Amino acid sequence: VARIHFGGNAYTVHEGSTVLEVLEREGHTVPSSCRSGVCQSCLVRATKGTPPAAAQAGLKDTLIAQGYFLACRAEPGEDLEIISAADSGLGTTATVAGVRPLSARVVEVALRPEPDFAYWPGQFVTLINPEGVARSYSLASVPAHDEHLLLQVAVLPGGVMSGWLTAPETLGTRVQVQGPHGNCFYVPGAPGQPLFLLGTGTGLAPLQAIARDALHQGHTGEIHLFHGALTEEGLYQVDELRAVEAAHGNFHYHPGVLRGPAPAGIHEGKIDEHALATVPSLAGHRVFLCGAPELVRPMQRKAFLAGASMQAIFADPFVPAAAPVTPESCA
Ligand code: FES
Repeated sequence: VARIHFGGNAYTVHEGSTVLEVLEREGHTVPSSCRSGVCQSCLVRATKGTPPAAAQAGLKDTLIAQGYFLACRAEPGEDLEIISAADSGLGTTATVAGVRPLSARVVEVALRPEPDFAYWPGQFVTLINPEGVARSYSLASVPAHDEHLLLQVAVLPGGVMSGWLTAPETLGTRVQVQGPHGNCFYVPGAPGQPLFLLGTGTGLAPLQAIARDALHQGHTGEIHLFHGALTEEGLYQVDELRAVEAAHGNFHYHPGVLRGPAPAGIHEGKIDEHALATVPSLAGHRVFLCGAPELVRPMQRKAFLAGASMQAIFADPFVPAAAPVTPESCA
């Protein structure tokens, strides 16, 4: 039976338990969100022992070489001595600099990062607030245009992080930032290649960033951005995106709602079907898909069947935050 050494204590890891579950069972607060190896918010570092390879899948080589691993995926086969990512100096901090509503359900949160923070528009970061709550958000900002990191945050009833971010007393607070992570961003070098961007809900954030970045970098190929919502209330940034469309002849914005009534200029029906009816062949396209997993996963296949090469399909890896395992349920 393996043991983990953390904060001066040693804990037994029973078969089938992860490092994250053990630390939570022992009363430690470890940032976590998806609990399935995607968001990277549960990064910890082994200072002694070798973490299981499965817990390092998808991490950058530089992190692997330093012993970082994902606590939610680690069922260690040997003793490990570990420290938190924050204690090991990984990540940076940012200050909550402003919050403004984009719609009845979505707010834009502006964060002032440390001066050396670099990212590609469309990548995502994990925020960890002073209570240890972690959530991942895509960056809607473009460094060339925006001084701050801009997040589009869905305000959910009872949402722990969205409630905290939008509380007036949070303004000016520092948060820990891990990342940026992810491969959903614009890479220059093929300015004429058509781009196909499709997303739902706050999946608009990375798509908007990628489109703005592409245009900023002089992209000349056609850019189609499809944004779907359940009802009209779920659409936001409509005027801003129409203004971008008016300013750039190669940018086409297609908002859609699943349930009507849809006002003029807004499609009613399934956004993926509308997108593939509008752009039936995706041969030669670069495809970006972001939003609800039940849209993104089947759409990856549909995009492939419509002619996009697998290497040219980029999908936002987000999965919803999962509830932590309570000490009672692990015992
Ligand atoms: S990767 Fe471990 S909580 Fe998301």
